[in-house]
Amino acid sequence: MVKKEEVRSIVWIDNKVKMIDQRKLPLKEEYIICDDYKCVAKAIKSMVIRGAPAIGVAAAYGFALAGLSSKAKTSRAFLDDLKVAHSHLSKARPTAVNLFWALSRMMNIAISNMDIDINKLKDRLIKEATIIEREDIAINEKIGQYGSSLFNKKVSVLTHCNTGALATGGYGTALGIVRSLNKQGKIKRVWVDETRPFLQGARLTAYELKKEGIEHILITDNMAGYFINKGDVDTVLVGADRIVANGDTANKIGTYSLAVLAKENKVPFYVVAPTSTIDMNINSGGDIPIEERDRREVLFVGESQIAPSTTKVKNPAFDITPARYITAIVTELGVINPPYDINLKKNYYKIKETKHKF
Ligand code: MRU
Repeated sequence: MVKKEEVRSIVWIDNKVKMIDQRKLPLKEEYIICDDYKCVAKAIKSMVIRGAPAIGVAAAYGFALAGLSSKAKTSRAFLDDLKVAHSHLSKARPTAVNLFWALSRMMNIAISNMDIDINKLKDRLIKEATIIEREDIAINEKIGQYGSSLFNKKVSVLTHCNTGALATGGYGTALGIVRSLNKQGKIKRVWVDETRPFLQGARLTAYELKKEGIEHILITDNMAGYFINKGDVDTVLVGADRIVANGDTANKIGTYSLAVLAKENKVPFYVVAPTSTIDMNINSGGDIPIEERDRREVLFVGESQIAPSTTKVKNPAFDITPARYITAIVTELGVINPPYDINLKKNYYKIKETKHKF
């Protein structure tokens, strides 16, 4: 159950999608309301809503909105409208596989219910999107149970980016484990990487931990090695945007450096994600599409420009952590240990294969 004070990234209300505008946090709690799928796609693209599982939930609701606003009179025409929305939403962001997973799941519901009345199918699509959201919360609570059982004493955790309630349907993945550990009195402190350039750590993770009253310290990304090497970090917990068949993992830029630092200093490095983030259609990390974002995110901090306007800039939003740096992958099915090419496959029948059919 999501606690009352826990922030919600996205809710379905009066046939509309309401999202907290994560670009404005932590200074302002403002909401964006969408009543069509293009608005949802724009919200995903512009980072109103972000974090792999939350992007999946938003895409599902966007798809449901497309169904709701369709004027089609035949099932065939209705499906055509859904295909247009599917194609539009799937272009919102490229790396987090949860987006494509959720859209495939919604499209499969539409296809397998083609014979029912269109209005009933519209309701069914809304129901499915709601199920995806609720399931995600339950999955994260399960992940919290499995993840927290890895530690039998108080620990100092270092985390990167935001993997909390804001990045998911609720509760969080890596930050969900932190929540569970905290309930068990097993958190010494959380080291929060600020996570340049978008500052998800500083703006969102610190905001969530403050709301929860969990002891935390904010550091700039380049301080992580110093504290890990000093022995101030017992474990690193990060989320994932896409985990592929051999265990290689795409996550927020800077994750790979942390994984190398953790291995060098013999600190366990856990990747924490629902199975909807696992993409068994890709064999190794080199084939994961990496989003390149706007140069302004690097050139500016907030409204302040920090380098000459003409400076060349690169802004990959994610990097790949090779499987050999990952101590274990924590999912709702349990803790998956290396070798990942074998152990992910063993769970394969339970991991719903993502089929990008449309
Ligand atoms: O660009 P973002 O903010 O969508 O990136 C999010 C991350 O990389 C998260 O760490 C990852 O999605 C896990 S979210 C539970």
